Amino acid sequence: MNDSTTGAGHGPLRPGGAGDGTRVVRAGLPEPVKHEPTLPGPVFAAHFHLPGDPTGPYTYGRDENPTWTLLERAIVGLEAPGRDDAEALVFASGMAAISSVLFSQLRAGDAVVLPDDGYQALPLVRAQLETFGIEVRTAPTGGDAQLEILDGAKLLWIETPSNPGLDVCDVRRLAEAAHAQGTLVAVDNTLATPLGQRPLELGADFSVASGTKQLTGHGDVLLGYVTGRDADAMAAVRRWRKIAGAIPGPMEAWLAHRSIATLQLRVDRQNATALALARALRERPEVTGLRYPGLPDDPSYAMASQQMRRYGCVVSFTLPSRARADRFLDALRLVDDATSFGGVRSTAERRGRWGGDAVPEGFIRFSVGAEDPEDLVADVLRALTDSGT
Ligand SMILES: Cc1ncc(COP(=O)(O)O)c(C=O)c1O
Repeated sequence: MNDSTTGAGHGPLRPGGAGDGTRVVRAGLPEPVKHEPTLPGPVFAAHFHLPGDPTGPYTYGRDENPTWTLLERAIVGLEAPGRDDAEALVFASGMAAISSVLFSQLRAGDAVVLPDDGYQALPLVRAQLETFGIEVRTAPTGGDAQLEILDGAKLLWIETPSNPGLDVCDVRRLAEAAHAQGTLVAVDNTLATPLGQRPLELGADFSVASGTKQLTGHGDVLLGYVTGRDADAMAAVRRWRKIAGAIPGPMEAWLAHRSIATLQLRVDRQNATALALARALRERPEVTGLRYPGLPDDPSYAMASQQMRRYGCVVSFTLPSRARADRFLDALRLVDDATSFGGVRSTAERRGRWGGDAVPEGFIRFSVGAEDPEDLVADVLRALTDSGT
């Protein structure tokens, strides 16, 4: 499926291509077959009938599965609409997807540039890469600081907006500089989702994401994916998936595909409420360090507006102390104190409790859900007041 079709055997829809809501409800669906369901159910199979030579498409369940195929079609249609050269591969988790790119592309003696303010498992990955003789350099996301340490690197890893600091970098500028010296570029697109940002169109070689977050959005599935446009590089990622075996179960893949049908509804609701919440928080004296890329006075706003179509559902801010932040989280009634983000139920956490991010003790990462905006904002403002006494 691409921008100019609705899929399922129909011709061009309208000159500008179908809208996001139309595209997500049809993403990856097979051609209609009489008496068959619209989205075929999960195919539970460890192996497939295979007389004779072992050729594809379906041989063994660690290599391929028809439920993945449909989900991969859906994802590539959203990440790279209209691009016939792009493909997607699904994984058991976001970390499996991230590792597949890093460990399939890098060799001993190579250098890789990572963000120093990205997802908190990246330092673990760094340590592992270093044991394999790979040089790891890091720089912050903001101000395109990774440019300064790019020289001779094999791969540049970008996370924009960064989690949890919500800084944004210029993907196109970084990708141009990287490609000018033969460096591959991967973007972690988890926070934006493919409806918020399309890294391949901005020049990246890979768009990688945790589908555990807003892509699937119900907090009940772990999933990851890699989208890429270089056939050789993607073949290496596919080989890595086969070797590592970090594959999604058919049930998870099917749930993910079903959830993508509501992606546009969810992101539009959640992201609009995130902006409303950020605006309300801006008025509170106990809140400092407020960040939301969609706030016009946010340091990320100008760059985000150039390369993003939506600003995400995560808002971050700092309360005066650890105790105050804990009291605030405890006082919330509509918001679960839980990690992760992107789900239809709002969650928030004191990020410093994990110890992996360079954030103040009172730093809150808030993931806005699909509740009524008035209810959610009122709950947050009340909890702020109640936790102050
Ligand atoms: C930006 C980002 N990338 C990757 C991951 C890893 O995803 P998963 O938990 O699905 O392995 C996360 C998880 O929080 C994340 O926030």
